[in-house]
Amino acid sequence: MHNLILCGFMGSGKTTVGKRLAGLLDWEYIDLDETVEQEQGLTIPQIFAERGEASFRDLEHKAVADLAKRIRCVVSTGGGALTYERNVRAVDRRDTVIFLDADFDTCYRRISASTRPLVRQNSYETLAALFEKRRAAYLEAAKIVADAHPLPETVAKAILGQLNLRID
Ligand code: S3P
Repeated sequence: MHNLILCGFMGSGKTTVGKRLAGLLDWEYIDLDETVEQEQGLTIPQIFAERGEASFRDLEHKAVADLAKRIRCVVSTGGGALTYERNVRAVDRRDTVIFLDADFDTCYRRISASTRPLVRQNSYETLAALFEKRRAAYLEAAKIVADAHPLPETVAKAILGQLNLRID
């Protein structure tokens, strides 16, 4: 196994669970959104506002493709990343994609006050429709589906159980 890659809607807990998983495994943790922000010297809201979403998606694609050079990393992707075919295809076959499955209202509670561009630009109803569409894509991309409602530590341990990975 090369890397564990977490996908799921905004607010599904990819960052918190990813950090717990990396800690339990003693693997490196990578947040793809942070990677893009650091490389560009801009925040995601700034990239969306100054260059547009399509530019962000290209940067995100490069960040996903670059993962093929890495091993033993736990990676949180942005909520859109693995809904794009080119990104799913860029994931190394030896990596394992995990979908953090939380219901829309749980996600929405966590993101409604955030500065995420898609949250600021869209209504509750539009985001709910996006959630439904994306959920099908996450299920398609992932090898493992984890119930993302319990506490992050519990979710992380359940994932390790599903992977049959022992914590030494
Ligand atoms: C996005 C989710 C964000 C970030 C960007 C776009 C999306 O990441 O990549 O704002 O399309 O759902 P999080 O899922 O970590 O919030």
